[in-house]
Formats: sequence, C-alpha cells, structure tokens
Amino acid sequence: MINVKNLTKRYVNINAVDNITFNVEENETVGLLGPNGAGKTTTMRILTCFMPATAGTATVAGFDVFTDSLNVRQQIGYLPENVPLYLDMRVNEYLMFRAKLKNIPRRERRKKIDYCLDLTGIRDVQNQITGTLSKGYKQRVGLADTLIHDPKILILDEPTIGLDPNQIMQIRQVIRGLGEKHTVLLSTHILPEVEMICDRIMIIDKGKIVAMDTPANLMKQLKSSSNVILEIKGDGGKIKSSLSGIDSVRSVTWKEKEDANEFYVEGSGEDDIREDIFNCIVKENYILREMKRQPITLEEVFHQITTKETEEVSGNA
Ligand SMILES: Nc1ncnc2c1ncn2[C@@H]1O[C@H](COP(=O)(O)OP(=O)(O)OP(=O)(O)O)[C@@H](O)[C@H]1O
Ligand SMILES: [Mg+2]
Repeated sequence: MINVKNLTKRYVNINAVDNITFNVEENETVGLLGPNGAGKTTTMRILTCFMPATAGTATVAGFDVFTDSLNVRQQIGYLPENVPLYLDMRVNEYLMFRAKLKNIPRRERRKKIDYCLDLTGIRDVQNQITGTLSKGYKQRVGLADTLIHDPKILILDEPTIGLDPNQIMQIRQVIRGLGEKHTVLLSTHILPEVEMICDRIMIIDKGKIVAMDTPANLMKQLKSSSNVILEIKGDGGKIKSSLSGIDSVRSVTWKEKEDANEFYVEGSGEDDIREDIFNCIVKENYILREMKRQPITLEEVFHQITTKETEEVSGNA
C-alpha cells in the first residue's frame, strides 16, 4: 500500500530523511517511532504530497507521490502534526466544509459527519467555534476531518498528542478498529501506544531507519534486562547488605511492602544474576516470596537503539 525506496530529503546542512526504504502492507498498522527531529514528520509530509523529496521514490496505493498527487490525496487521510483548523468556524460548519472539499456527495455528508462526530467523541461540541475549543478537542476535530471521506490509508502524525488519558484510550481504540480495515502509518512518542496498536514498528533516528520489526521481535532482539525484583521477608537492611555483597550485583534498593520487603536488584553485567541471588538467599536462610526478572520494555528498546550510535561514536573518540 505504501512503498518507499531510497527516499531522501535534504535541507541546507542536514538530511532530514536519509535514504530510507520501507513498505506498509494493506491493512497493516505501522508505528513510526523516533526522537525529536528524527524525520518522522518529514517522511509523512512527503508521503502526503505536502513537499517533494530530494531523491528516491514513493508510491501510495500504487500512485506516485511526486507525479500523481491528486490521486494520492484521495486515497489518504492525513492528520498533520499541528492540526490546521479554520478557527472562526463552528465544528459542524468546518466538517461540512471539509466534506464538500473532499467531494463527498451532498446526500451523504450529514451521515458521514455524524459518524465522525461520534467516533471521535465531539458531538457535544459540534456547535462550538473551533477556535474556542481546548487543545484535545481541536485534535479530535482534526481526526474527524481526517476520517470523513473514509480513506483507505491513514497517515497520522502523533494522533493522541494533547489528549487526556480517557481520550487517549478511546482514540487508540478507534485507531485500532480502523486498523482492521485500513492501512495506517502513525507516529508517536508514547511507546505503550505502538505496542497496543501497531503490527510493526519502525524506529527512525537522524533520518535513518535503525530498526523495523514487530514489537515482540524487537524486544526479543535485545539482551533481556539483568535486573531482578524480589520479595523477601525479614530485616530489610540486613537482607540488602547480603544482596549487595554478591559479586554480580551492582546495586540494591528496597522498600517495605506489606509484611515483607521488595528489593530491586541491578546486575553489574548482562548475565542472569538469579542463580547468585538464589544461592545467597539459601545461604542466609531468608524467606523468599517472589523473584522475577524485570521484563524489558519498549522504552528500553527505544533507548538502546537510538542511543547506541551516539555511545559508540563518543566511545571511539
Ligand atoms: N524546513 C526546514 N528547513 C530546515 N530543516 C528542517 C526543515 N524542516 C525540518 N527540518 C529538520 O529536519 C529534521 C527532521 O524534522 P522532523 O520534523 O521530520 O522530525 P520529527 O521526527 O517529526 O520530530 P518530532 O518528534 O519533534 O516531531 C530536523 O532536524 C528538523 O530541524
Ligand atoms: Mg514530528
């Protein structure tokens, strides 16, 4: 559905997008992750024909984004980073205006608008001037606008930015639902979000793709965390000093938890420290209630991948 090959966008002294190649299949939901300035918005602006690339090719639903922009635009719903609205129009008027622009037949307009008002939870504010809406509501009006012509492909630049937690949950569900019958490319900084809604993740850093896989595979690729969480009954201070004495342990922190203590033990290397901990506990005869490895999170994956190069560079210097 989206095919990108060797795409580059060069500004005066920086490659905002640097020779990237990727595909998004039909009905797939792909999350674009990356630190600030990584090139996410730039990629999306090229795919939505808002700006030309410096080199490379890109097609959306089979149409070339450089030569066939009219067709591309008909296939996509694009929610830009800063949602542009006509601030002196009422929500209803604005959506009606957009429906006309998008060539939705007159008879269908009202029905489509009502559907989008409900989907994005903005029916209550349909008669309000958009300029007076809160940030989150403006974002939702933008999303309603994006969906109104029922596009096959959705390109959403940080769709949940500025929403409150309840709304984030609702909009995520909306996107997940849409993802079943639509092709979705979305960017976000909220990592649990991609885990929840995306089939695949693409991590981009300094204009380059540094990882692309399913969330589960990405987490598997990295060395699992060597940190361990323990629940042990007894004198917390004494247990802490025993655990701290283990060679493979770097640090131990603890807090009281109900009638026992919870310890967070950080390993000094990447090796599994559970056996050493077990031996220590047996030797000291402590009452162990629970021992579990801290699962690796997508946050760690993201951090490791997007800081690796910097560390390697500074390490070599
Ligand atoms: N018009 C421009 N002129 C010069 N440089 C630009 C221009 N637009 C973007 N850039 C640069 O291109 C790089 C990529 O920007 P982009 O907006 O795509 O990042 P992003 O991944 O969307 O970041 P964020 O998470 O902050 O939204 C940045 O270094 C930015 O400064
Ligand atoms: Mg951006």
